[in-house]
Amino acid sequence: MKELIKLHNVSYEIQNYKVFEGINASIQQGDIIGIIGKNGAGKSTLLTLISNDLVPTQGHIQFLQNDLNVVRLEQETESHISNDVNAFEVELLEKWHVPSHDFGLLSGGEKLKARLANVFAKNADILMLDEPTNHLDERSTELLIEQIKHYKGTIILVSHDRYFLDTIATKIWSIEGDQLIEHKGNYSSYFKNREHRRHTQQREYEKQKKKVELVEEQISELTS
Ligand SMILES: Nc1ncnc2c1ncn2[C@@H]1O[C@H](COP(=O)(O)OP(=O)(O)OP(=O)(O)O)[C@@H](O)[C@H]1O
Ligand SMILES: [Mg+2]
Repeated sequence: MKELIKLHNVSYEIQNYKVFEGINASIQQGDIIGIIGKNGAGKSTLLTLISNDLVPTQGHIQFLQNDLNVVRLEQETESHISNDVNAFEVELLEKWHVPSHDFGLLSGGEKLKARLANVFAKNADILMLDEPTNHLDERSTELLIEQIKHYKGTIILVSHDRYFLDTIATKIWSIEGDQLIEHKGNYSSYFKNREHRRHTQQREYEKQKKKVELVEEQISELTS
């Protein structure tokens, strides 16, 4: 698979707060990457960095192919600019049951679907979706899943919805502290792997504790 973008030792700081410290990652053509992490972990910041709308404080983001077209659906904005509605967007709006009145009058879910139709119709090489299922009902989420599965480009998305991630993601990027952990596979396999990692850490910790206790015992025996 062709490599499209590479993150080299990327650090990002906002007002003396370290969001990322020396993270590395790679985006391959055809990936569907699901970014996970707590509120405030830096998921939206990471998308903004990769789409070149923010500059890393250290390290760099390398674009390995010429003319890569990156489109980002921002999280929860009330604005929608659609000056060039193409035939595909009209088709999606109809399929997703978005009424054709003013954007301002649409419901929360309808607004999101209108914004999704707009970014999907741009046919970008890399499409970034920041929490694309937040207002969607079950049926609309299924339609979005279908759209994502048929998409020809590469997709990077942020979601807290495990079912959604499990259905579509081929890779998981988990933001843990100021680090990025890359996992090849869907959410379930990421979760199994994480549990395994935690058990191993716990076992190491227990072993270490026992060693310390033993040494302490020996010391007290020697000094008593
Ligand atoms: N312009 C800014 N100035 C100061 N701090 C900021 C700014 N933008 C973001 N932050 C902080 O950076 C951190 C990362 O924010 P970000 O929006 O990337 O988190 P997130 O993982 O997308 O969270 P959520 O799940 O709530 O969407 C947060 O602690 C946030 O408060
Ligand atoms: Mg966010």
